[in-house]
Amino acid sequence: MERIAGHGWWQFMKLLPGFRDFFPADCARRNALTALWRETARRHGFMEYDGPVLESTDLYRKKSGGEIFGQLFQFEDKGGRDVSMRPEMTPTFARMIIAAERQYRKPIKWFSIVSCFRHEKQQRGRLREFIQFNADLVGESGPAADADIITLTLDIFRACGLGENEIVVRLSSRDAWMNFLTARGIDLERAQDFLQIIDKLERSKPEEQALKLAEFNTTLDEVRAFIASPAGASNELDALIANLKARGLGGFCEIDLTIVRGLAYYTGTVFEVFDRERKSRALAGGGRYDRLLHALSDGGVDLPAIGVGIGDVTLNDLLDSLEIRSPRMSELLDAASKLDLYLVIADESRRDAALQLSTQLRDEGLRVDFSSKEMKVGKQFQVAEQSQAAVALVLGSEWPAAKLKVLADRTEVDTTRETLLADLEKILRRSGGE
Ligand code: HAM
Repeated sequence: MERIAGHGWWQFMKLLPGFRDFFPADCARRNALTALWRETARRHGFMEYDGPVLESTDLYRKKSGGEIFGQLFQFEDKGGRDVSMRPEMTPTFARMIIAAERQYRKPIKWFSIVSCFRHEKQQRGRLREFIQFNADLVGESGPAADADIITLTLDIFRACGLGENEIVVRLSSRDAWMNFLTARGIDLERAQDFLQIIDKLERSKPEEQALKLAEFNTTLDEVRAFIASPAGASNELDALIANLKARGLGGFCEIDLTIVRGLAYYTGTVFEVFDRERKSRALAGGGRYDRLLHALSDGGVDLPAIGVGIGDVTLNDLLDSLEIRSPRMSELLDAASKLDLYLVIADESRRDAALQLSTQLRDEGLRVDFSSKEMKVGKQFQVAEQSQAAVALVLGSEWPAAKLKVLADRTEVDTTRETLLADLEKILRRSGGE
């Protein structure tokens, strides 16, 4: 085998840092989660869209903002183009909306479930490839549309089994900070630099913060006082909270003006979802970006928009640490990993009957398996257990009479070729908890 200088030959067999393999159990988990996301978004009237993994780097250069731009998987393709793997979906979404918005009734309510790539330092809750749910609402401004997106976000977490004891949405508004700056006579052209200071308020030294804040005619005490009493800081934020309370979601909400979001394109309402214990990084983040479409289209399309991104990594970590699984999630996981029926062929002369039955039962929509080679009956039962089959059908010399064995409690039911389907459905409905 060819050796690569400086590397053991086995290096290429290792998974790259921040990337994941999905073995069957991981796939079942991923698919159950994305199915829940999809079902929830559809319940809210959102339509699914998709886009390419690779985009021109220029699309991200200005619109995503500093930190994400530094994390791009960026390279020159074979045609000499400067391209990047998508670190987030919003620029692609904006590009698609600009190209085709005229064909769609407003508001446009779309969602997508995609892999994103960010060359981040690997740490808990952060990978280099992760799955992100995105939902965006274009063509409506104001707190009612903001509330629609936040309600969908919370419903996604609720569908996973997480309630207001487990998660909180921290709501904020960049407008509140714009009001703060205007009151101090600061040109809003400089707002982005100010928001970066607020973003890092709890993470850097107070003396450094004070120096930077002085350039914006304010002090750390003033900023902290503003954060401590946010009531009335933004009328829009107050209206948003009232709307969410009317939907019965008030218990999930807190105002937290320290949330300003790292991405450059946000304008008004911004929010992040966290676990109550604040053990992990954000579970979701989003906000209003009323000027992004205008800026990307050189003024051609001027539509307000708000959206959210929810990642799979921190969400799965939280569900695992709290050992929470909603009934629908369990149902989806079972469908992905369990069999309804395992055919135990106790007499090889009945193999043709088993083959015929397998086709018939699969056509009925049942998940059915059996050994394609001759095997001892005990071994076949072992495989049935390992495959998490609900029932084993023992096909012996008595066929067309046979026995159905419920594997969970070892009870047996006599059956015949004629009654098999009805008997089986009765058992499966019982074991499905209906
Ligand atoms: P974001 O806050 O960068 O927003 O990402 C949203 C969520 O994606 C995060 O809260 C987190 O759950 C997940 N996420 C981000 N980076 C990573 C990572 N390296 N590893 C694992 N999970 C990660 C956006 O991406 C915006 N484009 C969301 C949006 C849509 N705003 C408007 N529309």
